[in-house]
Amino acid sequence: MDFYNSVRDIFVTCPLEMAEYLEVELKDLDYPILEKRKAGIMTEGTMEDCMVLNMNLRCGHRVLYNIADYRAHNAQEMYNKINKMPWYDIIDPDGYVSVASSVINTTIRDTRFANMRCKDAIVDCINSEIGRRPDSGPDETKAVIFLFWRDRELSVYIDTSGEPLSRRGYRKEPWKAPMQETLAAAVVKATGFEDGTHMLNPMCGSGTIAIEAAMIAANIPPGLVRHNFGFMHILGYDKNVWMKVRNTAKSNIKKIIKTKILASDIDKRAIECAIKNARTAGVEKFIEFKAHDFRKTPDIPGDKILIMNPEYGKRMGDVKALESTYKEMGDFFKQKMTGTKCYIFTGNLELGKKVGLKTSKKLVFHNSKIECRLLEYGIY
Ligand SMILES: C[S@@+](CC[C@H](N)C(=O)[O-])C[C@H]1O[C@@H](n2cnc3c(N)ncnc32)[C@H](O)[C@@H]1O
Repeated sequence: MDFYNSVRDIFVTCPLEMAEYLEVELKDLDYPILEKRKAGIMTEGTMEDCMVLNMNLRCGHRVLYNIADYRAHNAQEMYNKINKMPWYDIIDPDGYVSVASSVINTTIRDTRFANMRCKDAIVDCINSEIGRRPDSGPDETKAVIFLFWRDRELSVYIDTSGEPLSRRGYRKEPWKAPMQETLAAAVVKATGFEDGTHMLNPMCGSGTIAIEAAMIAANIPPGLVRHNFGFMHILGYDKNVWMKVRNTAKSNIKKIIKTKILASDIDKRAIECAIKNARTAGVEKFIEFKAHDFRKTPDIPGDKILIMNPEYGKRMGDVKALESTYKEMGDFFKQKMTGTKCYIFTGNLELGKKVGLKTSKKLVFHNSKIECRLLEYGIY
């Protein structure tokens, strides 16, 4: 459909403080940076480009394809404008549509109201043209429409991702306090890791950091394991175009990597779960998993990075108990990891201070609502 072949604005969302990593990824993929915001970047392209971005971006959350811009003062004006769009060409009358939004408009107190009126405008339009209407609700696994509304400026997007891209599809086995996949990828990128640098990941839990590192080293696109994206539920979706995008991304995968990745955890059950996740992600052969205490991590020759994501404790009692663990991590770095760039990712800045070593960098990240730090220690 021609509509999808025209170059339109594409807004890629990301968690707060992650836009700089997303920017590098977009530039590496040859996409222009039209505007950088706190939680996303505006670029441009066609629906095929949206597929490319969904397949390849490690640090983005949603790829939003702009289909209309309006001025709307209130919900009624928004309804009137959106109702006039040709939704019968976009959403299957026998399908399912969900609406999400980011709204700052003095006439709207609850974004759920904006979502509902937008959904009404869409289904009323389809009903009056076709005589049937799609189902609707909060499920993000089918067609998703996204509204970005600031004062009177209203932009309508197709959310071509649907579920956020952090849900890669490889984490079949849950473990306690797993890191979001997009966050783990950004943390790995922030360390400067690339194929050829070894990666030590004690306290690996369900293996997210090690798995993302292996995928980066082997050039495995993050969208490969996932089989459902929002664009697949939009009328005019061309499976052949998606297969072409998928095959191009697959053709760049390396069979062999230079990097050694060692992942370990004190809990055997965590290791079992990490191995299963790595297998699903197609990187089991690139990671050596072991169940042992972080102090048993071997120091291997060559350029290397160590990343640890210890628990950061929610209750006071837990925090107290973790103080000695953080101090022991510092001792371990000093005594056993000379020549290694060591990192601790934590959401508790006070616990971070218990490490007892001078940081060479403190990078800010957000894990949902928790402000976190990636603490870097250059151990020479
Ligand atoms: C916050 S979780 C890591 C989550 C991980 N980043 C993920 O994405 O699943 C912390 C992990 O540290 C492990 N752990 C705690 N004390 C340890 C120790 N002394 N040595 C090694 N691992 C330890 C726990 O078993 C837990 O799996």
